Amino acid sequence: RRSATMSEKEPADSGKSCLVGKKENLIEAKRTSVTVGDRVVVVIYHQGVFYAMDQHCYHAGGSLLNGDIEEIDNRLCIVCPKHKYKISMAEGEGLYISNPKDKDQPPCWKSKGIKQRVHKVTEVDGDIYVTLSETPGWIDSDYYQSEQGRMDLKLA
Ligand code: FES
Repeated sequence: RRSATMSEKEPADSGKSCLVGKKENLIEAKRTSVTVGDRVVVVIYHQGVFYAMDQHCYHAGGSLLNGDIEEIDNRLCIVCPKHKYKISMAEGEGLYISNPKDKDQPPCWKSKGIKQRVHKVTEVDGDIYVTLSETPGWIDSDYYQSEQGRMDLKLA
């Protein structure tokens, strides 16, 4: 249901850049929900780095605003509070544990590919800007930025 109409389209507001706040305020807040164009984005400050991604989890729309941050397989991931899906913060990849059929092999982390749309954060003279991702095509978190997805969130 999610990819039928948008697979070849540019994401809404692609490339749009927006001032989202003062660096010091965003550092202090650590997590901030902002609207850029028509998208709801969470800006995260963690260990000296800013990240931005769609705020609603690609799986079922859980809010990443309060997700824990964990290092998994040497990558920083946000853990969705709703069903604990792990999403790499730099790329938006969905990570999962694969249990090999061969029981002598330990389980290992694998990627489902990019599932959450991540955006670019830049600083100019103490001001922080978010520029929306220009990656073409469908990324699963796009669903919760659509009209239908927003309605689902309201009904949930
Ligand atoms: Fe995020 Fe299910 S909604 S893990």
